[in-house]
Amino acid sequence: MENQGYSMPRIGDMAPEFTAQTTQGPINFPADYKGKWVILFSHPADFTPVCTSEFMTFGSMQKEFEALNCQLVGLSIDGLSSHIAWLRTIKERIDWKGMQNIDVQFPLIDDITMNVAKNYGMIQPGESETKAVRAVFFIDPKGVIRTIIYYPLALGRNFDELKRVLIGLQTVDNFGVALPADWRPGDEVIVPAPSTMKAVAKRVEDKDMHCYDWFFCTKDISKEEVESKLGK
Ligand code: BEZ
Repeated sequence: MENQGYSMPRIGDMAPEFTAQTTQGPINFPADYKGKWVILFSHPADFTPVCTSEFMTFGSMQKEFEALNCQLVGLSIDGLSSHIAWLRTIKERIDWKGMQNIDVQFPLIDDITMNVAKNYGMIQPGESETKAVRAVFFIDPKGVIRTIIYYPLALGRNFDELKRVLIGLQTVDNFGVALPADWRPGDEVIVPAPSTMKAVAKRVEDKDMHCYDWFFCTKDISKEEVESKLGK
């Protein structure tokens, strides 16, 4: 199928550059966020219920992401006036699941031209030609895309999982390990597979590791140790 001007960045690519107007003023992306982790995410439209529930949840977690040296940046194919009116409504009128008075302080991009959404593969025409899907890009402090998650229009994201992914990526970088299914801080981590017979023999004798087989060895890193390095 012809790509009709849509492109799909991939894990390992540099985040495509753009400038944009946002609810917090103009941004130059990703240069303005060098040295920080960024979660760039799209939502289908302002003044819609699933998106409102997501913004209330992300808004209530702003401090937690800041503590992880992570900047949140939202985007939809709506203009600035709509964004501002919607965020004011969320703050002044919506009380949902005990969340109220939520002041969204992270930038929300005006992408009425769809330039950014098309460039980031956020428009998936089989789902909608005019609304962005719920895309999430995790971008590291060097501007490299490290994880991409897509959700359809009708399914709200799991924000605990988004935070877990961010903590997981920082742990992978800080400790040079891999992380098993459902990993959480304090769980065992995976030691990279050896590439020589000698290294295999050595690792199965290593008392600090637990080997389920020669290619599948883990070690412990305490929750405190993981947490002491988060935000890096
Ligand atoms: C919502 O956010 O509620 C929504 C947006 C687009 C399509 C379906 C639901």
